[in-house]
Amino acid sequence: MRMRSHAPGRVNLIGDHTDYAGGLAMPMAIDLGTTILGEAHGDRIVLRSKQDDEPAALPLVVERAEATEPPWARYVAGVVAELAPERGFIGVADSTVPVGAGLASSAALEVSVALALGFTGSARELALLCQRAEQRASGVPCGVMDQLASACGRADHALLIDFAALDIDYVAVPPSAEIVIVHSGESRELAESAYEERRAQTEAATAIVGPLRDLDIEQLRRIDDAAVRQRARHVLTENERVARFALAFRNGDLDTAGQLMVQSHQSLRDDFEVSTDALDELVERLTSTDGVYGARLTGAGFGGCVVALCERGALPDEGWHVKAAAGAHVAELA
Ligand code: GLA
Repeated sequence: MRMRSHAPGRVNLIGDHTDYAGGLAMPMAIDLGTTILGEAHGDRIVLRSKQDDEPAALPLVVERAEATEPPWARYVAGVVAELAPERGFIGVADSTVPVGAGLASSAALEVSVALALGFTGSARELALLCQRAEQRASGVPCGVMDQLASACGRADHALLIDFAALDIDYVAVPPSAEIVIVHSGESRELAESAYEERRAQTEAATAIVGPLRDLDIEQLRRIDDAAVRQRARHVLTENERVARFALAFRNGDLDTAGQLMVQSHQSLRDDFEVSTDALDELVERLTSTDGVYGARLTGAGFGGCVVALCERGALPDEGWHVKAAAGAHVAELA
């Protein structure tokens, strides 16, 4: 029986580097995604890609996903290693998510592959399996935001995610708002090692003062190391901004939402130190354009994209104009 799976990429509206600290974030699944067409077949996984000449060709038992070639096949291998499918598969993957832009192209691939290979379980379980697959494939201790947004997206809604409980509250995107994603032109060079370091610093802070949620900011004085204190201040204040952003979105208050995005960018730049000159200049340029409420870097930082919240038509000639899309799904084809 032939089947088709589809998983969206995501853009994070606000709340970066909070997911692995049990914090809050508000991403949305987008109408760019990865589709797989194929069927169960034999005892190997053979997936061609419309974006890459070399296919992913794997046995059912994968030992070292991170060493798989070509590199895109590492994410397929990560899923195979986690899922341990009983049957092989032959198919083709096609993606509209730009790679290296911070729009979770790897999460879209993982989630789409897991569904194609017969994953059964809840959307949360799907996201957690794909997070483990991503960690295996990339060696980066990523959080679960990208996979959760891809698995659990909803049309016309953003997801207010509480990572302590893995709870999702759906918040409608105000109909007058337009979400535009603009690339800085820099791919995310340092992202891997820097991500690991930031996560370790955040965990060092938590070990001293406890969870960085609902914590009195005065408590951060107990952290001696200046860099660790700064990272903690970003996470703490970012959680507050996410909660206020969700409220502003619910009230259709796009001015406030935009200001919170700008503050989020400043905190990622000054306290978390994951911005670049190109991202800062892009945020500056976009926020001084008429009809743009706010803009910020989105995702891990160190290059990649800026997300802007604007009035319809404010940025007619640039970037991806995305809509909030439904989460991943799979269907058998007649
Ligand atoms: C990457 C990770 C996510 C999240 C963001 C930063 O996209 O995969 O888990 O930590 O960075 O918010």
